[in-house]
Amino acid sequence: TETTEDFVINEKLVDGIFKPRQDFSHKGTYGKVTIAGGSFGKMGAAVLATQSALKTGAGLTFTLAPRCGYEILQISCPEAMFTEGGGEFIENFETENETVYGIGPGLGTHEETQKGLLNFLKRYTKPLILDADALNIISKDCKNLKLIPDLSVITPHPKEFERLFGSTENSFERLKLAREKAAELNIYIVLKDHHTQIVSPDGNVFYNITGNAGLAKGGSGDILTGILTSLIAHGYSQEDACILGVWLHGRAADLAAGKYSKESMLPTDVINTFGSVFEELN
Ligand code: APR
Ligand code: MG
Repeated sequence: TETTEDFVINEKLVDGIFKPRQDFSHKGTYGKVTIAGGSFGKMGAAVLATQSALKTGAGLTFTLAPRCGYEILQISCPEAMFTEGGGEFIENFETENETVYGIGPGLGTHEETQKGLLNFLKRYTKPLILDADALNIISKDCKNLKLIPDLSVITPHPKEFERLFGSTENSFERLKLAREKAAELNIYIVLKDHHTQIVSPDGNVFYNITGNAGLAKGGSGDILTGILTSLIAHGYSQEDACILGVWLHGRAADLAAGKYSKESMLPTDVINTFGSVFEELN
């Protein structure tokens, strides 16, 4: 018989997970990230995810993006390195780097991007983070779900969840379905919502209660992808990275709302508020 538990993410849980930076450390200590995303007209999503990885302390950050984003990325994220994956959209996801991938922000669903992503997933077996258009591409055929590597993290909003796994009557049924799918596919599902739920493959659920409606703006999800990819690259387990990352995203949003209002705060302001959250944690 299996027992599963539900938890609310509180400061005690987060404090127990957070690891302060070590004095005797170097960039190799904090991991390598590759954000794969962006396409003509949606480069901002890749920029936000990249900045978010940088601002959560990743050791080395790469952005795998199409050539049309080269200057945009080098100028808006000078600390990140550029890897070319195509012309106007990504066609090739391979990279030489030993890295943790966060794939999806602004990716688009061009035919070549779809082929490129599915071919990549057929060969790639390490856990990665999949969001946005990466999930929309996978949704096109339910056989693609098996291509998601074990212990990967997917971060669907309710619409993306429905495209992946079908529609449900209400949020209770959706959570039940998420529990089944997380176990069946051996992946973590971060069900993004007002109270985001992290569903682990062993059936446990962690509810987040930070965050606010100021996040209901394009780009908020992209920064979560950057956070989670960075924390996993740091060496946090997938479960710890999801708990700490989702909480941090919401806590930064709450501080940003206090400073700028829910109306005016932008995802960029949330990224620039990560520092205050790290100060609280340290
Ligand atoms: N209260 C609390 N949190 C919220 C609220 C709210 N009212 N609204 C949104 N959020 C949080 C969610 O929990 C999630 O973490 O903001 C984030 C929104 O993520 P997405 O829905 O992925 O939004 P977005 O950043 O616009 O995604 C960018 O990717 O999913 C695609 O089609 C989407 O083009 C869009 C792109
Ligand atoms: Mg999104």
